[in-house]
Formats: sequence, C-alpha cells, structure tokens
Amino acid sequence: MRLRNIPRASEVIENSSYVIHDPAKMQGHWRSVFENGRPLHLEVGMGKGQFLLRMSEQNPDINYVGIERYTSVLLRAVEKIQARERGPENLRFLCTDARELQDIFAPGEVSRIYLNFSDPWPKDRHKDRRLVSGRFLERYERILTPGGLVEFKTDNQGLFECALEEARNAGWETVLCTRDLHADEDLMRTNVMTEYEEKFSGKGNPICKMMIRKEKRAQAEPTVIDRA
Ligand SMILES: C[S@@+](CC[C@H](N)C(=O)[O-])C[C@H]1O[C@@H](n2cnc3c(N)ncnc32)[C@H](O)[C@@H]1O
Repeated sequence: MRLRNIPRASEVIENSSYVIHDPAKMQGHWRSVFENGRPLHLEVGMGKGQFLLRMSEQNPDINYVGIERYTSVLLRAVEKIQARERGPENLRFLCTDARELQDIFAPGEVSRIYLNFSDPWPKDRHKDRRLVSGRFLERYERILTPGGLVEFKTDNQGLFECALEEARNAGWETVLCTRDLHADEDLMRTNVMTEYEEKFSGKGNPICKMMIRKEKRAQAEPTVIDRA
C-alpha cells in the first residue's frame, strides 16, 4: 500500500470515538468497551476498513476490533464511519502495531482473528514481519479462546503456501483450505470482500483462503474441508 503523510490524520483519529487511544488499559476489559460479553473478533492489518464495516453491520452479535498501524490508512476507515448517519456500535479501531497484541488482549479474550491480504514481506530477513509467521501465530495463540480460529485470505500463492507450512510446523490444524475461494459457491455465500480482494479478484487473480485453529473444540466441530 502506498502511504502518504496526511497531516489531518492524527487529529481526526484522536477525536474519533471509534478509536481506542490507550488500548493496553483495556486488556482483560474489552467487554466493558462494548458493554456486553459478545464474542470479540479482530482484523489484524485492516487497511481502510471495508471488511470490518460490512462484517459489523451483518453480525450485530459479534464485537469487532480492527488493528492498523498507519494513521494515514486508519483515517480512511474513520472517514467511512463518519460518512454514515449512524455508525455500528460493535466496531472499534486501534492504531497500533500488531506486535503489541498480547499487551492489549488478555489470554482467551479473542474468539477469531482475520488476516486479509497481509503484506508479503518477500525477503527472508523480514519473514518475522509477516502476519502469518510462526512468531505472529504464537501471539495469536496467546489471546485466542481455545479452538479460536485464524482466517487468512490472499491472492499471493507463495505467501499462502508459506502460511500453511508455518501453521503446520507450529501444530495448528487446518480447518479449511482453498486456492480458489471465488469459485466456491458455498463459501462465497458468506464471503465479505476486502478492498484488496475486490482489486485483485477484479484482475482475475484466484483468491486463497485458509482457516486454522490450535486446539480442537469440545463441541460443534466445523467440518474439515480441503478444496486444494
Ligand atoms: C495489504 S494491506 C490489506 C488491507 C486490508 N486487510 C484489505 O484486505 O484490503 C495490509 C495492511 O496491514 C497493515 N499492517 C501490516 N503489518 C501490520 C502490523 N504489524 N500491525 C498493524 N498493521 C499492519 C498495513 O499497514 C496495511 O494497511
């Protein structure tokens, strides 16, 4: 994503009630932010927020938090909400680096994590920066409920294979794996497109999706599907 310095970004973000400004104080208390105990889902690397805005409108019984490290990008998500007469009550944003996740959420506080079109960081020396790296999977495992899912979508096939391998090596179970999400009618019925997904699927790129979890659920097991 090309970044521009947008002078008003910090001010708009500081004044937005949708942005949590001192998120570490919320660790273990996220239910008080939303004033209910509904499941908490995160999108890490949310970009301009289209996915979370749609998800939060479609699923009022779930609370959503979006994490984006750049103010110039988060600004776009805040502006999208401001353009509405009434923004969703079950959505908040954090302007922070995802490396801080475990200082912001208590163990087991998060039910699901979405990673959508994460930056590939192709150079080997940068591999720990990939949001699908083993280092990040450890961070996710700490804050997820037992059996909590990580969902990852990308059009970058190399990154997808790398993510599958990292997950396998770290002992995560693959619950779903497809290398052509948009060809799958069943999955597309509930698919919510991100900005990047619209852009790259529009160019004809197949979209890959995986869902992984660390421990098996005691009940209501989703069926394991491999559409490789
Ligand atoms: C390629 S964009 C994808 C945006 C959106 N998820 C989508 O699918 O349209 C990746 C975003 O992740 C953010 N990002 C990357 N690493 C991050 C990190 N460690 N913490 C927070 N945000 C991060 C980037 O700033 C960028 O906005």
